[in-house]
Amino acid sequence: MAVMKMNCFLLFVAILLCIEVANGQANGVVRLNLNGSVDPSNTEGVIEVYYNNRWGSICYLDVFSMFYMYVPDVVCHQLGYTGGNIGSNSGVVNTSPVFGLVECSDSYLTLTQCSCNTDFSPNCTFADNLDITCYATRIWDNPYPGMVRLQGGNYTGQGIVQVYCNNEWAAVCNDGGLIEDETGWTICTQLGYNVYDVGTTSYTGKAWLDNVDCSSDDSDEDPPSCLSKCSGGKCPSSTFSCSTALTVTCSYDIRFDSGGIKDACKFAHGLSVGAIAGILSGCLVGFIILIILATLCICCCKDAALQPL
Ligand SMILES: *[C@@H]1O[C@H](CO)[C@@H](O)[C@H](O)[C@H]1NC(C)=O
Ligand SMILES: *[C@@H]1O[C@H](CO)[C@@H](O)[C@H](O)[C@H]1NC(C)=O
Ligand SMILES: *[C@@H]1O[C@H](CO)[C@@H](O)[C@H](O)[C@H]1NC(C)=O
Repeated sequence: MAVMKMNCFLLFVAILLCIEVANGQANGVVRLNLNGSVDPSNTEGVIEVYYNNRWGSICYLDVFSMFYMYVPDVVCHQLGYTGGNIGSNSGVVNTSPVFGLVECSDSYLTLTQCSCNTDFSPNCTFADNLDITCYATRIWDNPYPGMVRLQGGNYTGQGIVQVYCNNEWAAVCNDGGLIEDETGWTICTQLGYNVYDVGTTSYTGKAWLDNVDCSSDDSDEDPPSCLSKCSGGKCPSSTFSCSTALTVTCSYDIRFDSGGIKDACKFAHGLSVGAIAGILSGCLVGFIILIILATLCICCCKDAALQPL
């Protein structure tokens, strides 16, 4: 199984060289169309997703509204916001649908992680295009150590890689080191995508990490799904000045691996599941001892209080 996964992985490394990414036209990229404007900074509008070489909408059927419940949250996560709601924008956008029923989990980071039904009713009209409004709060306003984000790209899945350490965002540098494809895979996976392209750009600014390497000596093993688990991926104590930053372009394709979910890397940095379980059981034992002591104390104190003076 692992061998097959890795072969598929290498095959996609080859295929992704063909993905068209200019202007953000890569599979799975989303944008909001507000009365004909598709500015990447739009926080409300009709959802448009790039799929099968065109921008298409989602046909929203009121009778199935509960299925679409988390679609606004997920699209807003992908655009860098903490969530969103079904919109009330009256402007009709003449985009025809690519998806009918779409069902998401609130923890997804990209729309194409959801179950997206490509069948839709012939009765779908432009007025049925799903429009949303994202909250004003940024998904990276409440960051965790080891969180990653991309800056300066044509869309949120593209740009210079930044990582959050010690209360500050700074770049992931690549000053002369070999760029491993797996590092691109790890970063895009942490962001909820599953196809990547990795490179560098000249840069002037602070960085936390340098020459991170997510490849493994064991070719049967998948690369880590969190940057902090890669070699050189842990937060150091200080920044340094960087002149070549790492860049990635992430997109989404129908594949075996589904991309990471929200907060999946939150606890990856320090504590393992075993360690957390250990701490919890330690707390439980401590709590039981405390209860026993408290009970004993109450009894003793009561006895002591009953003693005649
Ligand atoms: C962004 O889009 C422009 C216009 O299509 C394109 O020329 C440029 O190469 C894109 N940038 C990246 C980093 O792909
Ligand atoms: C969109 O356009 C319509 C018609 O021109 C207008 O009534 C509406 O206010 C516009 N909506 C926004 C959010 O700009
Ligand atoms: C489309 O609308 C017509 C008329 O309202 C209705 O009879 C038909 O069942 C609808 N088709 C679908 C697939 O919903």
